[in-house]
Amino acid sequence: MKISVQLYSWISILVLPSAATKHPGQLSELYVPSVEEWNEAESKAHAFVAQLILTEKVTMVTGTLLDVGTGCIGRIRPVSRLGFPGLCLLDGPNAINRAHLVSTFPSGITVAASWDRELMYERGLAMGSEFKAKGAHVILGVDVIGKAPLQIHIFPERPSSNEQETMRSDTVMPDGTIVDAVSSNIDDQTLHELYLWPFADAVKAGTTSIMCSYNRLNGTYACEDERMLTQVLRNELGFRGHGGGGYFGPSLEAAVEVGNVTMERVDEMARRLMTPYYLLQQDDPDYPTVDPSMPYLLAISNDGWESGLLGGRPEGGIPGRDVRANHKELIRKWGASAAVLLKNDDGILPLSDKTACGGEPMLYIGVFGNAVFDVTEGVVAPPNTPQEGQEDGIITIGGGAGGGRNPYIISPLEAIKSQMNKVDGTVQYITSNKVLANNDLRSIYPKPDVCLVFLKSWAAETYDRPSLELSWNSTVVVNNVVKFCGWKKTVVITNSAGINTMPWAENSNVTAILAAHYTGQEAGNSIVDVLWGKTEPSGRLPYTIPKTVEDYGSPIVNLTGTDGGLERNSSKWQADFTEGQLIDYRHFDAHNTEPLYEFGFGLGYTTFKVEGDLEVVKLGGNTTNDLPDAAAPIEPGGNTDLWTEMLRVTGRVSNTGQRAGSTVIQLYVSSPLAGRNGIPVQALRGFKKIQLEAGQSGSIEMVLRRRDISHWDVMAQQWRIPSGEFKLALGLSARDLSANKTTRVLG
Ligand SMILES: *[C@@H]1O[C@H](CO)[C@@H](O)[C@H](O)[C@H]1NC(C)=O
Ligand SMILES: *[C@@H]1O[C@H](CO)[C@@H](O)[C@H](O)[C@H]1NC(C)=O
Ligand SMILES: *[C@@H]1O[C@H](CO)[C@@H](O)[C@H](O)[C@H]1NC(C)=O
Ligand SMILES: *[C@@H]1O[C@H](CO)[C@@H](O)[C@H](O)[C@H]1NC(C)=O
Ligand SMILES: *[C@@H]1O[C@H](CO)[C@@H](O)[C@H](O)[C@H]1NC(C)=O
Ligand SMILES: *[C@@H]1O[C@H](CO)[C@@H](O)[C@H](O)[C@H]1NC(C)=O
Ligand SMILES: *[C@@H]1O[C@H](CO)[C@@H](O)[C@H](O)[C@H]1NC(C)=O
Ligand SMILES: *[C@@H]1O[C@H](CO)[C@@H](O)[C@H](O)[C@H]1NC(C)=O
Repeated sequence: MKISVQLYSWISILVLPSAATKHPGQLSELYVPSVEEWNEAESKAHAFVAQLILTEKVTMVTGTLLDVGTGCIGRIRPVSRLGFPGLCLLDGPNAINRAHLVSTFPSGITVAASWDRELMYERGLAMGSEFKAKGAHVILGVDVIGKAPLQIHIFPERPSSNEQETMRSDTVMPDGTIVDAVSSNIDDQTLHELYLWPFADAVKAGTTSIMCSYNRLNGTYACEDERMLTQVLRNELGFRGHGGGGYFGPSLEAAVEVGNVTMERVDEMARRLMTPYYLLQQDDPDYPTVDPSMPYLLAISNDGWESGLLGGRPEGGIPGRDVRANHKELIRKWGASAAVLLKNDDGILPLSDKTACGGEPMLYIGVFGNAVFDVTEGVVAPPNTPQEGQEDGIITIGGGAGGGRNPYIISPLEAIKSQMNKVDGTVQYITSNKVLANNDLRSIYPKPDVCLVFLKSWAAETYDRPSLELSWNSTVVVNNVVKFCGWKKTVVITNSAGINTMPWAENSNVTAILAAHYTGQEAGNSIVDVLWGKTEPSGRLPYTIPKTVEDYGSPIVNLTGTDGGLERNSSKWQADFTEGQLIDYRHFDAHNTEPLYEFGFGLGYTTFKVEGDLEVVKLGGNTTNDLPDAAAPIEPGGNTDLWTEMLRVTGRVSNTGQRAGSTVIQLYVSSPLAGRNGIPVQALRGFKKIQLEAGQSGSIEMVLRRRDISHWDVMAQQWRIPSGEFKLALGLSARDLSANKTTRVLG
């Protein structure tokens, strides 16, 4: 199956390829379109566009937003006389938004925390199949965010430069003043080595559709940035698909008529739009039509059941296609395995192994916090959800374009009750954070064998989080529960979209901490599977947890309420990326700051050790040339020589514990230029998840390509391998690297 995934940013991805596979289920058979396939699709597009008149071409490249007829969020209109059914773009990096009978998947941040390529691939495949079955041609899917800890769906190894929601667009203020969107000001080396990096990966993987972001880059709106869109994206990265349009319309037609824009240029735009349609075989007569329930769901999601757009349609809605297949089983499994266990003193988890005082099974469970029970305001977050989110209930998925309609929600409380029912246990709970903040725990008797506290923080498009602290008086709540439960009995579970401060983490009576992120519709089952040991938590932090918010750095630019933000034609919203590449762990390394929990960290139910020497072998790449071969073709992903495999690194890992389990081996590279000019002390350049039986050991092999060991030379405008020694280190986190080797690449 092949499906188009749109990247949103300056451009904003995630981790899944646009094109899926020829052999479903086999990651090794990942389908990436060949140059010949691109060429063939392009010539079909050429033949199609040759039959269009100007108005049709302009309509096509302009597109329509919120198409009430089909319910598509973005729509390329049909050309019926040529049998072209149009294209349907649907929202949703984590679920098909504004649709029903669809799954809510673990969010991007959860998937990032899995460090599990198989999981990422399977999730991409499952989501792709749901979108396709609903008749979508383009998934408004994945987003890359890196620097700012307060934005949503963070994956610091995958940064873009669309880093804040506050003033992400030009904005009309209440007095009518228009203020320009925030400008991300980024130097060329940082752009290439950090922010452009994931785009090169995505284009290489066959992405056919990239959306420019709303904000400005170096003062120019991303969608008007000729250098980025043409020189960098198309010429340098070899991108052959299309981007979001939306603002051409009649002015483009007029511009062609007076000769300001050539017909060739418009033909090219229309061809780029049609090429992916043919490449992904969406011209197949069996390609699903847009689900007829979609217009209802668009109207109701945006305007409620009173929506005028529902007029004349059958009352009560019409059922859509159920596209969920067996995904709920996968969602439960992924949500559990991607959880990150940050602390587990005395091995309190898994609970199934534990006994209460006196050797009896644990029969008294205390459950606390407003993230533990079901939602009370509906299974879909409405558009007017406040910045701190709804007070009650577990968060399965974020809000805005990244939201979705849960088909149902399994709350943690529900899952805990059914778990404890099996042993006739007692579950006592207080889900009101107000009661907990007031320290009124008299309803709990006797003192539980273990106390589970569920904390949360909401994240949605259009807002930045106001704080890194978990919401709803979280710190007071934890402190009161810990004081009540006493000696080493409290387990804290966080339900959040990313980086949080955890001021209670070092309290010795907080015995375990599990970062569960947003797990999707099966939340409660996933979390209980981990707590009781049915599934091992094998996630690792895809970001650093700081001791204090000041340690993290990278605050957003926020001039709200200041005169500067309101000046006419204000260009005051400037975000200077002065830290260069030193975000997240690179920042902590550069400043020698001790994190609370470092990037790449996570515990499991067994232990691992990376040991012995690293073996480093030079592969076929040309080591007398510090630049990529200038004669190599530019294909999607850029100069093909940048992808030449240069070094193979091999190390050994052993499971030193008592149970089978998984760990993530991470490869960090320190270049000879490390520490200069905003260049990080070390950079993650490979990772692999490995499963081993108790006592078993295995070898791990990773490959470094030319790009992985090159820096962007601004003067030469080219990638260059530095001379001198590289240090390669392998281990279990950014601060637990037990095997290393230094090596020269050139010469
Ligand atoms: C932004 O401006 C700086 C300073 O002029 C320049 O070095 C850099 O290349 C520009 N970046 C982009 C993305 O255009
Ligand atoms: C054509 O370009 C000229 C010069 O930039 C401009 O003044 C005019 O408005 C443009 N006309 C149209 C229809 O785009
Ligand atoms: C930005 O500043 C305004 C006014 O001070 C404040 O209300 C808002 O919470 C701030 N936003 C963030 C994300 O901190
Ligand atoms: C936090 O707790 C205090 C009482 O201790 C209460 O007044 C306040 O409303 C609570 N805030 C939230 C967000 O629940
Ligand atoms: C942990 O709990 C015990 C028993 O209630 C108490 O004596 C001790 O002071 C607590 N420790 C901390 C760090 O709060
Ligand atoms: C400022 O805005 C006004 C009204 O939108 C516009 O006429 C003017 O050209 C703008 N000035 C600059 C310097 O952009
Ligand atoms: C390696 O690169 C050098 C320098 O560009 C070139 O002279 C040489 O022919 C290349 N070797 C191979 C095997 O391609
Ligand atoms: C690198 O590996 C050597 C053993 O090969 C070890 O002695 C040394 O401590 C390691 N250095 C670091 C920084 O890990």
